[in-house]
Amino acid sequence: MKKRIIFANLSALLIVGSIFTSCMNNKTSNEAGKQGITKIVWDSVGNQSVDLYTLKNKNGVEINISNYGGKVTSWITPDKNGKRSNIVLGYNSAKKYTDKVPYFGAIIGRYGNRIAKGKFTVDGKEYTLATNNGPNHLHGGNKGFDKVIWTAEPIVDSIPALTLTYLSKDGEEGYPGNLKVTVKYTLTDADELKIEYTATTDKATPVNLTNHTYFNLSGDPTNAILDEEVQINADKYTPVDAGLIPTGELKAVKGTPFDFTKPTKIGEHINQVPGPPVGYDHNFVLNNSDTTLHQAAIVYDSATGRQLEVLTTEPGIQFYTGNFLDGTLSTDDGKPIKQHTALCLETQHFPNSPNQASFPSTILQPGKTLHSTTIYKVTVR
Ligand code: GLA
Repeated sequence: MKKRIIFANLSALLIVGSIFTSCMNNKTSNEAGKQGITKIVWDSVGNQSVDLYTLKNKNGVEINISNYGGKVTSWITPDKNGKRSNIVLGYNSAKKYTDKVPYFGAIIGRYGNRIAKGKFTVDGKEYTLATNNGPNHLHGGNKGFDKVIWTAEPIVDSIPALTLTYLSKDGEEGYPGNLKVTVKYTLTDADELKIEYTATTDKATPVNLTNHTYFNLSGDPTNAILDEEVQINADKYTPVDAGLIPTGELKAVKGTPFDFTKPTKIGEHINQVPGPPVGYDHNFVLNNSDTTLHQAAIVYDSATGRQLEVLTTEPGIQFYTGNFLDGTLSTDDGKPIKQHTALCLETQHFPNSPNQASFPSTILQPGKTLHSTTIYKVTVR
């Protein structure tokens, strides 16, 4: 009896698998309205070929994700009038993601954001990481998780999902331990992109995984995001020094340009944020910091009616307003990508935690599994 059930399951798997195979390399099979996941051989990076997966839900929302850096390359959603556009910064070929492209859509690791001077001590041993941001280590180093090719496994179902795995070897970018990472992207019928991270290690190591998608809810990256309204459920933030390293203080947002406890236009106080460059690039301390999913932030663009809601199990969120975008990069159709034309909400533990004993720990111990979930939900109102 038991055997037959296993067999039945296996044959179902085979059928599903062969439907998937027949869709491979044939993106046109994902006709308008058809939900599921399809794949194309997209491009090559170095001499390795990389793929692009299209996840589509029952509402016709369509998200492209590559196994190159786990990058979300486009996210097509309707506005309040049903007009569909791409709401994220991304490119139509992997080769366009040069070293000058600041992490568009990518998985970030082993450590999201900065580690001061690229140094930390674990179990009495000091480690030195690659320094790629002035004197500091940023977003995993010279070749972070955004620049590696992940092993992809599509989950063929009416709820499309893509599982990406990567083994970050002991010593990579200076980090201790072999770290096995899995990132599962699911596009639900509630128009959510759910990102589930898991990781295990064989030596104690700092880990802080996030996603670096740049949103412009207007669907037109030539529009500034300054009129979009943001609410962040954080009464405190972590102030930074000139190198964007947290001072260690948790400061109340009340009465400062960092008060987003009520929906506030991004442009309202942006010029009062200490710079240069002008803009937000700060970690907010979420009020609810238990490890259950909680609402972290909401962004609303009244012109198109699009709303982005961010939920996470993480204690912090980096609100970044594209301050370093300066018009030198262009979109696929040749339009310059200027300052403040996209925003990131990177769910995370706090920057430089390995050197701040008072921050929640980011050290993953052998024998333990890191679990972290973030949901980006895009709807209209
Ligand atoms: C993060 C950092 C920023 C910047 C961007 C990418 O948000 O905090 O300082 O490095 O990534 O340019």
